Amino acid sequence: MQKAVEATMNPNPPNAFRPGDHAIQSGIQLKGVCKSYGDEWERQDVIVELTAEITPGELTVIVGPSGCGKSTLVNLIAGFEKPDRGEILLNGKPVTGPGRDRMVVFQETALIPWQTTYQNIVFGPNLRGDLKGAALHDEAVRLLRKVGLGEFMHKYPLQLSGGMQRRAELARALINQPELMIMDEPFRGLDAMSRGLMQEFFLKLFEENRRTNLFVTSEIDEAIFLADRLILLANRPSHVRAVIDVKLPRPRHYAMLSSPEAYAYKREAMAILHEEAMKSFKATATSQDFIDAFSRRTD
Ligand SMILES: Nc1ncnc2c1ncn2[C@@H]1O[C@H](COP(=O)(O)OP(=O)(O)OP(=O)(O)O)[C@@H](O)[C@H]1O
Ligand SMILES: [Mg+2]
Repeated sequence: MQKAVEATMNPNPPNAFRPGDHAIQSGIQLKGVCKSYGDEWERQDVIVELTAEITPGELTVIVGPSGCGKSTLVNLIAGFEKPDRGEILLNGKPVTGPGRDRMVVFQETALIPWQTTYQNIVFGPNLRGDLKGAALHDEAVRLLRKVGLGEFMHKYPLQLSGGMQRRAELARALINQPELMIMDEPFRGLDAMSRGLMQEFFLKLFEENRRTNLFVTSEIDEAIFLADRLILLANRPSHVRAVIDVKLPRPRHYAMLSSPEAYAYKREAMAILHEEAMKSFKATATSQDFIDAFSRRTD
């Protein structure tokens, strides 16, 4: 919550406000990024020598096992945290802190519970004062309708379903016209049906304006369905284990996930993630029976 507020408080927004869906596209370069936590003897390397590129106008999906450092990477790109070593460049310039050019939708809801959906959406622009009065109202209503919440704008977050809350979060981020949308497991916790619907809805938004997107997930089907490019992370300490360009055509629809092409991407990604999981099982001395059972999955 605090992070979301800070992210909207940059006094020098890099892009002037332009209501509507005209995305400005930005790219990110990560060069040899390292991040550790803790003091000396209990120091834990979370990210080590991570080098990757998020291409303007593309939907880049980061996949990695739970706890490998995905949210840490999000916090670094958003500017909430600083790398210990290495560089993070936004359009060639070092990221020095949070900014309105990068909006994050977090894995847990960050809607303000005592404000209505509408009040949540106008919160950021009101705080900065860069969009006011009728223009702000019109843009908020347009986005709420776009995400299918026109009828629910005066309800409080707790009166919305999980899927509706996620759509409200999307509208709240989109009103800032970010150059880069960062989504950290935004659909985690939704039931399978709502999750599928949210994926399709999110794809439609992306395919309309091709805003640069970084989407983090641990679900391989979700990753393949959405991605132009998949970045697979190794287990902690995390670095890029593999990059897969997903060349399924756009616009995408759910049936494509059962195509031979999608299945081939899935097999390739699963084999790599499986290897990573096996490494961590062995490192944590998990019982041989468990390792044998798990090995059968890709035999
Ligand atoms: N602020 C912090 N202080 C200390 N340790 C941290 C901090 N943030 C993250 N970590 C550690 O870094 C590691 C990676 O955490 P992170 O939340 O980035 O993983 P993740 O891949 O997002 O996990 P999940 O899939 O469960 O969301 C964990 O071991 C965590 O304990
Ligand atoms: Mg996380």
